[in-house]
Amino acid sequence: MATYLITGATGGIGEAICRRLALNHRLVLVARDQAKLNSLATELGGAHLAVAADMGQDSSISGLAARMDSEQLALDGLVLMPPQPHAAPDPMPSPDVWRDLFQLSFIGPLSLLKAAVARIAPNPAQGRRAKIVIISGVSSAQVLSHYATANVIRTAWVGEAKTLAFALGSRGIHVNTLSLGGTLSPWYQNKIAERAQKAGVSYEAQLANETDNVPLKKYGEPSEVAAVIEGLLSSFSDHMTGLNILHDGGFTRAY
Ligand SMILES: NC(=O)c1ccc[n+]([C@@H]2O[C@H](COP(=O)([O-])OP(=O)(O)OC[C@H]3O[C@@H](n4cnc5c(N)ncnc54)[C@H](OP(=O)(O)O)[C@@H]3O)[C@@H](O)[C@H]2O)c1
Repeated sequence: MATYLITGATGGIGEAICRRLALNHRLVLVARDQAKLNSLATELGGAHLAVAADMGQDSSISGLAARMDSEQLALDGLVLMPPQPHAAPDPMPSPDVWRDLFQLSFIGPLSLLKAAVARIAPNPAQGRRAKIVIISGVSSAQVLSHYATANVIRTAWVGEAKTLAFALGSRGIHVNTLSLGGTLSPWYQNKIAERAQKAGVSYEAQLANETDNVPLKKYGEPSEVAAVIEGLLSSFSDHMTGLNILHDGGFTRAY
């Protein structure tokens, strides 16, 4: 049984990942709402740890690091979901907007990753490898005009993941990015419903319209993301690191 830290654990995608991984592993569940984390941990059963932390706050990350130290946690990996860099079409927002976005969606989550790496002690000679998966979006691989700031922060994560893959590879720590296209978590379903209302069409018509440009003609399901995460944490990825893997139904056309 391995131990994995999962951020965004209470979200639509995070919960699906937790439900799948909890069948065979111990989890450290992280998000901001302690009550939601506790109820998820109880529902999952087993000896999971639920720790509230805000990835935008340095002091909160330090608190999480101290808690992991006091529990003497030995992690086998983590799934990091930097908070969504909210869609804004302005490619040159004010310095304050950039500072807030980078703190919330890059600097804070990277501090959490660093604290988690300090609790990872792989032993590749004995087949014990550690796996880090960073959840990103397809704007890490192509420019989306309506996600101007996300285009920048997502590509920053790809650069960081590839850099970490080099820095940590000799220790047996793998770092890959999983870039999601539209994924039908409740949060994203609400977004589709809002767009449907604005366009004056049904949810089903809006969904069919949006996915017409996706080769598989569908958005992803959180359970499909969970299956891929389980694979990337397993021996399936023992010779894979520094990759930006697209999970978008074929939407991204570049080679
Ligand atoms: N759904 C999609 O179509 C899609 C597409 C591309 C990428 N993604 C990425 O996939 C991830 C999950 O998406 P989702 O649809 O499952 O979103 P979601 O349901 O809104 O879940 C977000 C999760 O992150 C936690 N969270 C938010 N802000 C946080 C903060 N400052 N510190 C710590 N935890 C925080 C939330 O819990 P609390 O609010 O309690 O903290 C929740 O557990 C995100 O990173 C998103 O960028 C999603």
